[in-house]
Amino acid sequence: MDKVIFFDTTLRDGEQAAGGTLNIQEKLEIAHQLEKLGVDVIEAGFPVTSPGDFEAVRLIARDIRQPSICVLTHANLKAVDDSWDAVKGAANPRIHIVLSSSDIHLFYQLRKSRDEIMEMSRSTVAHARKYTDNIEFSAMDASRTAPEFIYQLLKAVIDAGATTVNVPDTVGYAMPPQFGDLIDGVFKNVPNIDRAVVSVHCHNDLGLAVANTLEAVKRGARQVEGTINGIGERAGNAALEEIVMGIKTRSDYFNLTTTIDTTQIYRTSRLVSDLTGFPVQLNKAIVGGNAFRHSSGLHVDGMIKNAVNYEIMDPKSVGVPSSSLVLGKTSGRHAFKERLAELGYSLNDENLARAFAAFKELADKKKDITDRDIESLVAEERRTISEEYHLDRVQVTCGDQGLPMAGVRLTGPGGKTIIEGAALGAGPVDAVYKAINLCVKVPNSLSEYSVKSVTQGLDAIGEVLIRIESDGVIYTGRGAGTDIIVSSAKAYINALNRLLTAKKQKAV
Ligand code: KIV
Ligand code: ZN
Repeated sequence: MDKVIFFDTTLRDGEQAAGGTLNIQEKLEIAHQLEKLGVDVIEAGFPVTSPGDFEAVRLIARDIRQPSICVLTHANLKAVDDSWDAVKGAANPRIHIVLSSSDIHLFYQLRKSRDEIMEMSRSTVAHARKYTDNIEFSAMDASRTAPEFIYQLLKAVIDAGATTVNVPDTVGYAMPPQFGDLIDGVFKNVPNIDRAVVSVHCHNDLGLAVANTLEAVKRGARQVEGTINGIGERAGNAALEEIVMGIKTRSDYFNLTTTIDTTQIYRTSRLVSDLTGFPVQLNKAIVGGNAFRHSSGLHVDGMIKNAVNYEIMDPKSVGVPSSSLVLGKTSGRHAFKERLAELGYSLNDENLARAFAAFKELADKKKDITDRDIESLVAEERRTISEEYHLDRVQVTCGDQGLPMAGVRLTGPGGKTIIEGAALGAGPVDAVYKAINLCVKVPNSLSEYSVKSVTQGLDAIGEVLIRIESDGVIYTGRGAGTDIIVSSAKAYINALNRLLTAKKQKAV
């Protein structure tokens, strides 16, 4: 059986999604989890686009040793040099050069001829070869490019030293059989193709990103590019978890191997959702909340008799935690730590102590604590680490008589200053946000607010997700707890902290 290389671009194409900005620490945390997941290549960023991206790539290259660390660069010599500076500390660095190949892009965007594209591609690949022989070349908008030109271009870049050639469906236009034929065509018409790995990178504009990717794999492509939860530009990228489970579940059809530890899929999905603020839709394949839930009488009956009737994958194989009741008020630190380990979390002593204190506080308010509650609690603790502003207290009066009023107390930068504010508002959340604005004076506007409960029951944890906008950039914030007004306040503080960190990193 041969192997499919998994190329994860959550930190580059995924982060390009509107509103998905991650700070450097968050990128590092995701990169560590991707390493645990077992991806072969992490595309860590596009360093020439911002100093923050440069620094994130540099740190990921320094800290993550198992997967190859890749940087995306434009096809010009200076960009290649600067990108190399960011990634050169990696154990196995890769330079990924992208240039458009379709006549549409050449005419309407780049205003260049095919000959010019050919020369730019060839010369930048040859230049990158001075640094490393791990070079990927992407013919952007390949699925709308004349196939003969793709063949010539790929031949030229392989001759110049590219070791992976990527065929992107940049705008999600391809149909699976057509895309498969293009991959067939590459194998048949690029004479030196045996010297490179053929890769595909599909977008989901018509909902076909995974289908196109799997068709390409069937026709011989051996690198697949995608993101966790399928996040990315517009309708997103191919979801890596769906590709890997397609290859694994239908090994009778593909007969291929991967190095992915599928039991890490669920955790990776939760982490990416939590840090980017993009919720996973309930019916999303593999990682959605309903993906392994059976509700109709007929299905439940079949499941009770034998899971094989209606389940093609074991939820445990993708790391989905059971929803059974696990802990309560009397559970001790040891039981809590063990349950965390079973869920895949290994916290250091300090973080464990904080999480356990939060667990005890929750157990006072909520009788039965499920795995989902524990996940939410750990995510909440993670959000409060290295905060600039911390919510110390919040008190609200509201009802149908008079205006809602809120008072807040925050600890400020360095944890030393205490700042207090009080305000009236149209509703309790509005009053809390106005009171916080009096303490943290950063102009912004709220563009999205939603609340959902983590589990069933009136004492369930409520998770609040918000987005705020400042200087044209969107920042996400999340907060969770049994009181949704307190969760709303935490979400706002979380968004403000992310805004302030991003501004600081930009200023560096
Ligand atoms: O969608 C695309 O074509 C890309 C390239 C950089 C591979 O993201
Ligand atoms: Zn893309």
